[in-house]
Amino acid sequence: MILAQRTKSGRYYVGQSETILDCRAFRSLRGKIQLILTSPPFPLNEKKSYGNMTGDKYLEWFANLAPIFAEMLTGDGSILIEMGNGWEPQRPVQSLLPLKSLMSFVENERAGLRLIQQFVCYNPSRLPSPAQWVTVNRIRTVDSFTNIWWMAKSDFPKADNSKVLRPYSDSMIRLLDKKDFNSGKRPSGHDISSSAFLRDCGGSIAHNFFEVESMDSNRDVRLPDPFNAFSLSNTISNDFFARTCKERGIKKPHPARMQMGLAAFFIQYLTDRGDWVLDPFAGSNTTGYASARLGRKWLAIDAKEEYVEQSKIRFEDPALVNLKEPTNEYQQTAHSN
Ligand SMILES: C[S@@+](CC[C@H](N)C(=O)[O-])C[C@H]1O[C@@H](n2cnc3c(N)ncnc32)[C@H](O)[C@@H]1O
Repeated sequence: MILAQRTKSGRYYVGQSETILDCRAFRSLRGKIQLILTSPPFPLNEKKSYGNMTGDKYLEWFANLAPIFAEMLTGDGSILIEMGNGWEPQRPVQSLLPLKSLMSFVENERAGLRLIQQFVCYNPSRLPSPAQWVTVNRIRTVDSFTNIWWMAKSDFPKADNSKVLRPYSDSMIRLLDKKDFNSGKRPSGHDISSSAFLRDCGGSIAHNFFEVESMDSNRDVRLPDPFNAFSLSNTISNDFFARTCKERGIKKPHPARMQMGLAAFFIQYLTDRGDWVLDPFAGSNTTGYASARLGRKWLAIDAKEEYVEQSKIRFEDPALVNLKEPTNEYQQTAHSN
């Protein structure tokens, strides 16, 4: 295990997560991690550059991570795992591996986990994939979302949806102004009282569906997206990290970076300032950066040293270096739209 980066707010280790989390240095952190937020190597049917396992080998490896992760968590901590879809090699058939992986993880009896909620992150800018079946044969539609699985050891992990409010729509703002609401029974059977929607709660409650905004090179980057908790700015190709990698001639910035707004959303939603956030497959360290911006402590692990070097770039970002006081960005701006 190599400690490769240390900042005011966190530490980045190089090595295999399953080994590192079992080391003495990490044992003292058991039961102290409030959030594990990660996108593991996907269960692909063909190997990617960062060495994904395939098939049953992946399933066994992934299932065995569950008790290791669960042991790190506080009693009311959460595990968030982002995972995309997979396809059978040479066939227009979706793979069951991602679903089987989730099942084997959450059902590992040594972990005592349950699925709290599923989220979907839709990215309209995703390149058409699986290309053969979408663009050549034209028999499948574009695979354009990832799943985020939220798991915990308790039915009531720490969570507060008032910390990730969306700005009210124009019609809701008008309604709050007029204080006049069409109450009564709806075709769905819901009975809406005359006062149900008249209290200004600072914003509307987030849904379990995110949409990544289309890339627009003329628009300023917002990072993490402070204005709308679930329309996430697509900053991946235009943020400080991407620009600096380009300036420094880094040929291979991490190829599978998480959306910054997604990381920020869950950190804000499921942790408080000062809590520990761990990403055991941290790559370019989106999780660590978002944690630092939001005043959380972070721990990161990745098998590849080159990604730790890339993480260091994130921590040169003036938006972080000049940050005087971490702010509750979502709450602060829920009214400002
Ligand atoms: C999907 S990427 C994570 C990207 C990251 N969320 C980001 O925003 O940059 C998965 C990462 O897991 C790392 N990895 C694969 N197997 C690992 C293992 N056993 N232990 C630690 N890291 C591993 C890979 O090197 C890769 O960087």
